[in-house]
Amino acid sequence: MSSGRLSHLLKGVLVLLPAAVIVAGTRSKLWEVPTGPFASSSNQTESLQWEHCQYRHLQDRVRITADIPPRLDGTWVSTRCEVRPGPEFLTRSYTFHSHRHFQALQHYYTESSCEDPAYSLTIRGKIRLLQASWITRGATEAEHHLSSVGIVLHSVAAKQRLASRLPPACVSLSISEAVPGKPYELYSSRAGRACLAAMGFSVAEMGLLRVETQRRSHGGEVRELFLGDIHTDWAQRTQHQPTGYQQPLQNAMHHIHPCPVCALVYRSSEQRPPVLPRAPAVPLSLAGHWVSQRCETRPNVLFLTRDFTFDPSQHVWEGVYRHYVDSACSQPTFTLSALGHYAQGNPSSKLSGATEFVFKVTQVKVTAMDESTAKLLNGTRPGKCGRARDWRVGVEQDLTPTNGCPMLGIKLPHKEYELFKMELDHRKHLLLFTGERPTDGSSPDRPLRRPTSFQAPMVLCSEGETRPSFSTFSGKQVQLAGGTAGLEKLALLVFGSALCGWLGVY
Ligand SMILES: *[C@@H]1O[C@H](CO)[C@@H](O)[C@H](O)[C@H]1NC(C)=O
Ligand SMILES: *[C@@H]1O[C@H](CO)[C@@H](O)[C@H](O)[C@H]1NC(C)=O
Repeated sequence: MSSGRLSHLLKGVLVLLPAAVIVAGTRSKLWEVPTGPFASSSNQTESLQWEHCQYRHLQDRVRITADIPPRLDGTWVSTRCEVRPGPEFLTRSYTFHSHRHFQALQHYYTESSCEDPAYSLTIRGKIRLLQASWITRGATEAEHHLSSVGIVLHSVAAKQRLASRLPPACVSLSISEAVPGKPYELYSSRAGRACLAAMGFSVAEMGLLRVETQRRSHGGEVRELFLGDIHTDWAQRTQHQPTGYQQPLQNAMHHIHPCPVCALVYRSSEQRPPVLPRAPAVPLSLAGHWVSQRCETRPNVLFLTRDFTFDPSQHVWEGVYRHYVDSACSQPTFTLSALGHYAQGNPSSKLSGATEFVFKVTQVKVTAMDESTAKLLNGTRPGKCGRARDWRVGVEQDLTPTNGCPMLGIKLPHKEYELFKMELDHRKHLLLFTGERPTDGSSPDRPLRRPTSFQAPMVLCSEGETRPSFSTFSGKQVQLAGGTAGLEKLALLVFGSALCGWLGVY
């Protein structure tokens, strides 16, 4: 990155994130919370979704609060079979006691419906909340200390698979001699961490926490625990310091009803792993208009909502990504609208029930939503990033004539390899899962980089809605070719990498 470009980016970041500067200087103070536009306990209303998906969400008007520091006590459980990069399939039941002790139960499975348990881990330790995160607004940083990790194998086949991955003699446990159903120590204060490292084991997720409480208009309360994200690159996993979240666990006493999976996971133990009922297969049908269910947090300081429209008859799609400064998605910075074609591929061989796709982005439009972003874009060289010197707040600019915007990391056309799946939620409404973005901010622009896990699911607003922009777009003959650079990389470059490099966080 040239120094000129960097200084442009930094200018933007400095203007955009004044609170980060303030907090960086006063970091030692416990519970010092970013000041200015950021509140420690924010009452969030999901007004954004309602704008775009009115009829569905008005009924479930919810009020969300997130306290810093969060109250962790209680048991928190998975609400579905979770998929981690790899892919790995698991369910989790984490219990936090008073006096900082925790017990995290993780059940691993051989397949994507969590019907065939392979092994369970019981992780015991202590957690200490440190301070409000000044990287991921709304989160709390914590440190943990492990006291023991135990393993129970659930089948001979699971034992053989694990034995092939681990050193022959793992501490007190020689996996090849282990008896299914019997607990073994994988780690304790006496023994080393060799086995844990070989398994790619990490509870780095405990380093970043957020608890959201939703109060529903009809009186119910739902509590969700967000823990740090898992790096999409296996090799980076144990070193990773999370800045985003995994899908939340729900409090066993305050979850969305009905949740048959919650009850099964809650009642499980390391010797009796939950066997989830097979979910009905949901055929993929993308037609319609899909939106985020909440303000989503991405690794590297990104808060956004997504809004996708697919028209399968023409194989065209549009994605609108609204970016914000804050974890409540209340202060917009810019909106990115991408258009292109897509092709449905084969069912995934790694993840049964999921389908491979290829997406092509041929047109990108950006709207600066605040003064500092408009200024940042206005500083680009003529012919490089839309109409030079013509960026104004709230006025959309087409980046297609300039083939993208190098300063924002957008180069058109652009191709991405995707993985989608569909499920039903507790109300039997369709959920769309799209592939997780690579944690390092790169783009899945090669088949080998195709995701093996998913982002937060989106909900269907309306079927078959076709937007006016589609007709103009699909009438245009666009030459599609391979390309590089990502959409969300844009935001990473502007707000992520620059911020990290400058503050020396990583
Ligand atoms: C958030 O809502 C609660 C009640 O639901 C209220 O007591 C509290 O003062 C509100 N906090 C803010 C920051 O508005
Ligand atoms: C962009 O640049 C033009 C020309 O220098 C200027 O008139 C305009 O005010 C600038 N816009 C912003 C948002 O800074």
